[in-house]
Amino acid sequence: MNDDIGLHDAYSLKSASDVKRLYSRWADTFEEDFIVEHGYVYHRHVVEEFTRRADLDPTEAILDVGCGTGVGGVELRRRGPWPVDGLDLSPEMLAKATDKVDGAGTPIYRHLFEANVLEPLNIGDGSYGGVISIGTFTHGHVGPDAIDQLVSLVRPGGLLSIGINEAFFAKADFGTHLERLVSARFITEPELVQVPMYDPAVAEHDHVDDTGLVALFSPLE
Ligand SMILES: C[S@@+](CC[C@H](N)C(=O)[O-])C[C@H]1O[C@@H](n2cnc3c(N)ncnc32)[C@H](O)[C@@H]1O
Repeated sequence: MNDDIGLHDAYSLKSASDVKRLYSRWADTFEEDFIVEHGYVYHRHVVEEFTRRADLDPTEAILDVGCGTGVGGVELRRRGPWPVDGLDLSPEMLAKATDKVDGAGTPIYRHLFEANVLEPLNIGDGSYGGVISIGTFTHGHVGPDAIDQLVSLVRPGGLLSIGINEAFFAKADFGTHLERLVSARFITEPELVQVPMYDPAVAEHDHVDDTGLVALFSPLE
């Protein structure tokens, strides 16, 4: 347990180098400190909303953006047949995701990329059937501008399931950004589903009642 690091540190990051520095210190204890101690359930909800709507061929790959140590990938492989790739800014978090395997010992992630989603990615347009993202669109992390590039990575008719911290959704005005993409006929009208981030039955902390909005939409032709 690393008592020195917490959500207050994560939410006050200002730059990509701050993000890298924090997660390089946090990677070893992230799952124990954050996922277990905080009663984190957000990944289950973002993946569940994705799998409930995804009408994809089993061979189409899904990209987990800001995959961290890989709890979203584990959940996705439990619930669906698709190959999963992961992308993250932190090499230390990616190293943890590399170690994740399913019951048969097969790595959860097909490919893992170290990349900044706020910069141009070296991935072809329409390479994925879907994108999921959990805990990355939040205070001190990634804002609405990154969504445009993620839409381009998904083939028309595929599905994005982006978990956005609800307070940050309002603060960074994701609503206006998404409306602009709809007006430009770039995406379908997003469905916004409110989900809990933490399970109050297993955890007591200042953020236990925080909610996420899962934005679900498809790229248009
Ligand atoms: C709170 S963690 C969530 C990790 C994982 N998705 C989960 O739910 O446990 C946020 C992750 O976003 C990554 N991240 C933050 N900013 C990023 C950026 N600009 N590009 C790529 N990854 C980023 C961090 O390195 C970190 O692993």
